[in-house]
Amino acid sequence: MSCDDNQAQAAVAVIGLGQMGTRLAQAFLAGGYSTTVWNRSPAKAEALAAQGATRAATVNEAVATSALIVVSLPDYATVRTVLGPAAGQLRGRTLVNLSSGTPQDAAEAAEWAAGHGAAYLDGAAMSGTRLVGRPEALFVLSGSRSAFDRHEAVLRSLGNSVHLGGDPALAPVYDTALFGLAWGALAGFYHSLALVRSAGVDPAEFGAVATAHMPFVTSLMADHARQADKGVFPDDDGTVEVHRAAIEHLADTSETQGIGTQVPALFRSLLQQAADDGHGASGIASVIEAIAKGRRHA
Ligand SMILES: NC(=O)c1ccc[n+]([C@@H]2O[C@H](COP(=O)([O-])OP(=O)(O)OC[C@H]3O[C@@H](n4cnc5c(N)ncnc54)[C@H](OP(=O)(O)O)[C@@H]3O)[C@@H](O)[C@H]2O)c1
Repeated sequence: MSCDDNQAQAAVAVIGLGQMGTRLAQAFLAGGYSTTVWNRSPAKAEALAAQGATRAATVNEAVATSALIVVSLPDYATVRTVLGPAAGQLRGRTLVNLSSGTPQDAAEAAEWAAGHGAAYLDGAAMSGTRLVGRPEALFVLSGSRSAFDRHEAVLRSLGNSVHLGGDPALAPVYDTALFGLAWGALAGFYHSLALVRSAGVDPAEFGAVATAHMPFVTSLMADHARQADKGVFPDDDGTVEVHRAAIEHLADTSETQGIGTQVPALFRSLLQQAADDGHGASGIASVIEAIAKGRRHA
């Protein structure tokens, strides 16, 4: 059976109701979309049925109800196992796979979906489960542009759903890159928290000041990305040498306070390598050149 009736066009099926899938289904329901759900353990579907979802007894049944099939499972092998029996039902529908995986996984899944006549979007939820359904929850998607356009309104009920391009592998590339970005920022935050706490500062008070400082940090990003693109690193935001000296203060103060120096050691290593590469007088975004070379600094 292919999907061509109007009712199905407005409907969405969510397969996999773990922490993420449950939040996805709740966001679709809150957006007013007819939502069918399936989960291996039926209890999670029951809880959603109480909130207005339709429970499907099988994956086949879930797929048959909806033009848009959203899958949230631990990995791509599980996606294949779960969707395999319903593959014959996928023709004419759109499969959105929000399970985590690699660019290679995404390319293979897109091929598999195409082989069964389905449009494919690979995607990643970038804002945990907390924000799902709110406008600031970032979802990155790549693959069929026409499928994204067709289902954009439904996908926007999840949050800020962004189409990155036609290559399905782009979504997992962004996913891992943004995960690293968030961890970099959080590692810096955790270090700063340990440092101020060692000086008797109230962590919550510091958290508020640190949050107010972040717009300065994010204001650098677009400009530094342009610098990286051109390979030209003006020193408007301080030179590598100036920042290297400041990192020594951070490392020394951390040591004096008796806390770990793992995080300053990473910063020191990056700036040292940039200086060794002749970028001492360049702006700090020149560090990207050191990273891009793939060399590891001791
Ligand atoms: N949670 C987050 O904050 C978050 C954020 C970003 C991305 N993600 C991604 O979202 C995906 C789902 O994560 P989650 O946090 O929702 O995981 P989870 O809470 O552990 O739920 C896993 C889901 O997969 C189902 N499942 C596992 N193995 C299965 C199998 N062999 N056959 C059928 N169903 C199976 C589970 O069914 P049962 O209920 O029957 O066990 C459950 O519905 C993952 O790829 C994760 O990386 C999660």
